[in-house]
Amino acid sequence: MIRTRVCDLLGIEHPIFLGGLGGGHTSPEMVAAVSAAGGFGAQGCHMLGPRQIADAAAAIRARTDKPFALNFLLFLVEEDCYAAALAQKPAAIVIAWPRPDQDMKGYIARAHEAGCKVMVMAGGVPEARGAADSGADIVIAQGTEGGGHVGWMASMALVPMVVDAVAPVPVLAAGGIADGRGLAAALALGADGALLGTRFLASDESPLHANFKQAIVASDGHDTVLSEIPDIASGTVWPGAMSRTARNAIVQRWSGREWALRQYQREALTDLQRARQAGDIAESTLSYGQDAGLIASILPAGDIVRRIAREAEEIVSSRLPGLLRRG
Ligand SMILES: Cc1cc2nc3c(=O)[nH]c(=O)nc-3n(C[C@H](O)[C@H](O)[C@H](O)COP(=O)(O)O)c2cc1C
Repeated sequence: MIRTRVCDLLGIEHPIFLGGLGGGHTSPEMVAAVSAAGGFGAQGCHMLGPRQIADAAAAIRARTDKPFALNFLLFLVEEDCYAAALAQKPAAIVIAWPRPDQDMKGYIARAHEAGCKVMVMAGGVPEARGAADSGADIVIAQGTEGGGHVGWMASMALVPMVVDAVAPVPVLAAGGIADGRGLAAALALGADGALLGTRFLASDESPLHANFKQAIVASDGHDTVLSEIPDIASGTVWPGAMSRTARNAIVQRWSGREWALRQYQREALTDLQRARQAGDIAESTLSYGQDAGLIASILPAGDIVRRIAREAEEIVSSRLPGLLRRG
């Protein structure tokens, strides 16, 4: 079995993490399934109120006694929501996308006082250094291949740079990882584990509409684009990132005409919400990573964790040693 420092730090079996996908992209069932299988689940708290955060934590705990995290987009965090999350005392708080002027140190210190470890996601080396200097226990180096909001650096270059920049703080690789090959590669780059979003979106427990899960399975991974269209349509100004999303009808219609979409933001949001509910894959913004091209079926989330652990172990124990020649 592959064990790294993050396994000991968080008391988990496999260094395989679910990204805390916000805005209704994670559910307690999904988080609990990942943690129960020996990975580390995270509930996205973006768009949940204090009561819903407490309910989500209770629903996870009703399904498993294994550790899990609560995830926040720091630039949008509401004080009562953060306080509600700390009151739940999850094993970890995950922080993503702080504004440069936000007091990350303060948020991290409060989580530590509540007995939580803190993981901070970074899309570049300066952000990673800032996270480590602010007291993060684990830094997540997120490459541009990933789904949702991402930076500009690819994982292959970013992960070892972040490992060097924040040592001895352990690093997780995120972005473009969907199988054991990705986990083994992340470990070879110096990371202590892998964090996955897209792979778990296509799981039985994922709250996504069935059509969206099928769209991920059908994707060859070449059909995504970095775009501001999802944020413009939803009326969110994101600090320093675009969103990796499917290059579908809605994105193609507005690409290069973002200025015009701003004019129709209200109507666009209503249309988006309607399309999302109906499972319309052409008129919804669908965030998934390039690793969609590695995903061939919808699986139980626990099976995904076990399969990735098994595949990575096989690579590390058999394939790689077999490449060594003596003399
Ligand atoms: C639909 C979607 C929503 C996401 N929401 C969040 C979020 O709220 N907080 C966060 O830290 N990361 C979020 N992410 C990013 C993931 O945590 C992770 O970094 C990314 O999915 C990794 O790339 P992959 O999709 O190739 O596995 C989101 C990703 C997706 C696809």
